[in-house]
Amino acid sequence: MTSNNIFLSVLSMLLLAASCGGPGPLRTDENDPGVVFDPPMYWQPSYKPLRQSGENTLNPYGANVRPPAPHTIPYGKKDFIYPYPNTTAGYDSAKKHLKNPLPLTAENLKEGQRLYQIYCVYCHGEKGDADGILVQKGKYPPPPLKYKDRPDLTEGSIFHVITYGKGLMGSHASQLWPEQRWKVVQYVQALQHQNDSLASQYWSLLK
Ligand code: HEC
Repeated sequence: MTSNNIFLSVLSMLLLAASCGGPGPLRTDENDPGVVFDPPMYWQPSYKPLRQSGENTLNPYGANVRPPAPHTIPYGKKDFIYPYPNTTAGYDSAKKHLKNPLPLTAENLKEGQRLYQIYCVYCHGEKGDADGILVQKGKYPPPPLKYKDRPDLTEGSIFHVITYGKGLMGSHASQLWPEQRWKVVQYVQALQHQNDSLASQYWSLLK
C-alpha cells in the first residue's frame, strides 16, 4: 500500500465511524442524536434570505430580506404601467383604447396557444367553447361565453380580463407577465375568429 492509499483507507474508516453515530447497531440510546459530521455544513453561518431568523441586527424586525424599495418593478414588468382601473369604466375604456403592442406573428401566436393550453383551457376549452375539463366534470360553472359568439371582445378587453379577472374568473396577472398576456390575447382572438373572414389571418400562422 502506498502512503496515499493508507491515508485514504484511514479517512474512509473515520468517515464510516462518524456516520455510524446516527441510528444503527452501535447506538443504544434511541434519543441520542449521534455525532454530526461537519456541523458548519448543517448550521451555516450565512444568512438564508427566506429564513426570518429575527437575529439580523441590520434589518428591521431582524429579518434577512427587506421588502423591495417603493416603486420596484418586478422582473418581466419592465415599462409596464397599467392605467385602466378594475372598474366597469376601466373595462370599457380598455376595450376601446388598449392595443396589443406585439405584432401578430406565428411565434407570438404559438406561444399564446401554448400558454392558453396551460392557463385557460381547463375552463374555456380547446376551441374556446366553454367546455373545459373542469366544466365537463361539473367542478365549475361554464363560462357564459363561447369566444366565437363574442365578436365584441377586443384585444384590450381580453387583456383587461386576464389582468383583473371578471365575475367568477380570477385574475391571471400573477401567472402571466404582460407580454405573455398579449400573446394569449392573440390566441383568444384566433379562437374568436374560427369561421369568419379573419380566420385565415390567424389560423394560417398556426399551421
Ligand atoms: C377557472 C375557470 C377559468 C379560467 C382558468 C379562465 N377563465 Fe376566462 N372566464 C371564466 C368565466 C366563468 C368567465 C365569465 C365571467 C363573467 O362574465 O362573469 C370568463 C370570461 C372570460 C372572458 C370574457 C370576459 C368578457 O369580457 O365578457 C375572456 C376574454 C376570458 N375569460 C379569457 C380567459 C383567458 C385568456 C384565460 C387564461 C389566461 C382564462 N379566461 C381563464 C372562467 C375562467
